[in-house]
Amino acid sequence: MTVQILHVADLHFGCAAAVDQVEALEAMIPDLRPDVVVAAGDLCQRGRHGEMQRARAFLRVAAQTAPTYALPGNHDVRWWRRPLAPFGRGAIYETYRRYLGPDLTPTLEVSGAVIAGVLTAHGLAWGSLTWRARDLSVIGHLPRAECQRVRAIFTATAPETARVLVVHHNVLRGELSGRMGLARWRQAQRRIATIGADVVLCGHDHQEAADTLGSVIVSTAGTLSTRARGARPGSFNFVTIEPSAVQITFFRWDAERHRFQPSDTFAFARGARAAAAPVP
Ligand SMILES: [Fe+2]
Repeated sequence: MTVQILHVADLHFGCAAAVDQVEALEAMIPDLRPDVVVAAGDLCQRGRHGEMQRARAFLRVAAQTAPTYALPGNHDVRWWRRPLAPFGRGAIYETYRRYLGPDLTPTLEVSGAVIAGVLTAHGLAWGSLTWRARDLSVIGHLPRAECQRVRAIFTATAPETARVLVVHHNVLRGELSGRMGLARWRQAQRRIATIGADVVLCGHDHQEAADTLGSVIVSTAGTLSTRARGARPGSFNFVTIEPSAVQITFFRWDAERHRFQPSDTFAFARGARAAAAPVP
């Protein structure tokens, strides 16, 4: 069975939104015929009500074609409400939950695939504290308990079903940025490599990429905002999971034609999953 995923990230509704790109994408979703639409975080710029409402409208348009999946990115978290407080951290996700769903990391089953998320956007938190001041509240982390939860979901899935993990932060180093999205990235990569996923969908780096991490295929979506890295065009990814292969196509914004054009396609063999092991 083939599963087609429209993978977007970093729409950044608010001051950075590229509304012409978002509207063009909304119009072409029915033609793309995805089986599911995944928004891998940073739907907003500052987690404001109006931004969340536009994000909700985008997901509702997408939902007319296919089921949707979203989870929060660092810009969707109102981290200043509970900086470093060990209790009451639910407050930082209150606005997200109000508009985009009560479950921050839902599990979605579609025909041929199960899609599960690990929350990496924890605001200003002990797990992602860093010496680099500009990375505070920006960098993410991958808690072990979250990985164990998702690994149990994947383990309980029929072997032929594709297992898709969604996280916001880039799990591989950005080519232009040279940056990892996750704190303690070696440990985070080990956790992802052993979580039992076939494909990981992430964003945050604002540069599209397709690569592998062990036997896991990683699709990193670019951004649909005006903040594409290196003044590159906005983009989204289209991921096709077949029984023995995965293809990732970048759709890049063509400003002259005012539409997205399919450009590079990367093809990967779907290898054997990593054997189940304790989460490092
Ligand atoms: Fe982000």
